[in-house]
Amino acid sequence: MLYEATDCSNVYGIDSASNFLKMAAETFKHCTFINHDVTKTPLPVHADVMYARFLLSHLLDVVELVNRWVEELPNKGKLIIEELEDIETDNPVFQRYLAINIGLVASQDAVLYIGKTVVDGVYDADVLCNECISIPITNYQAATWFYPNTVTIWEQEQYVLDNINAKERKELSDELLRIKQSHDMREAGTWKLRRVVLQRV
Ligand SMILES: C[S@@+](CC[C@H](N)C(=O)[O-])C[C@H]1O[C@@H](n2cnc3c(N)ncnc32)[C@H](O)[C@@H]1O
Repeated sequence: MLYEATDCSNVYGIDSASNFLKMAAETFKHCTFINHDVTKTPLPVHADVMYARFLLSHLLDVVELVNRWVEELPNKGKLIIEELEDIETDNPVFQRYLAINIGLVASQDAVLYIGKTVVDGVYDADVLCNECISIPITNYQAATWFYPNTVTIWEQEQYVLDNINAKERKELSDELLRIKQSHDMREAGTWKLRRVVLQRV
């Protein structure tokens, strides 16, 4: 959270999903959360520092959108973006989970590993940082992050229902839950995270 990183008490969070906003508001009581579609500018609040993580992989025309967010900043204001560039893993369960999610996101015309697009963007801003960070992840962490989608989004999304049969969905979900509950702390692979920091000129 920017609050912890900057010690700034004036922090706003924007999301278009009311359930996530409710959860965030319960956890971070000193912050203000606003229901808004971030593809619609002007944004409802203006900040010196904006932070977007794992958001652009849900959205379209991302470089153009990032440039519109930059316009929302004051002079010298900063926009920090962190997006997945790749996930490397030898675990066949994680590989299959990721392949399904790549297909799901693609069915919405978006790109899961959008960090690969962000890296080459042409921005109307000073680029203070454009780096790839490698984060080792354990089996427990991967399963903990992946499992919830298999019992929520996967059971609602037509792409998943049409392309992955119920038996395979259940087997993958059960296996992810088993790994999560085993607290297996062995390394599962590496998350490649693209971090770009832009400053308005
Ligand atoms: C993968 S989650 C990432 C959540 C958080 N940023 C993090 O790093 O853990 C993606 C979030 O983007 C939100 N989202 C997707 N499209 C959006 C839009 N057009 N406007 C606002 N929020 C959006 C979803 O509701 C969801 O909370």
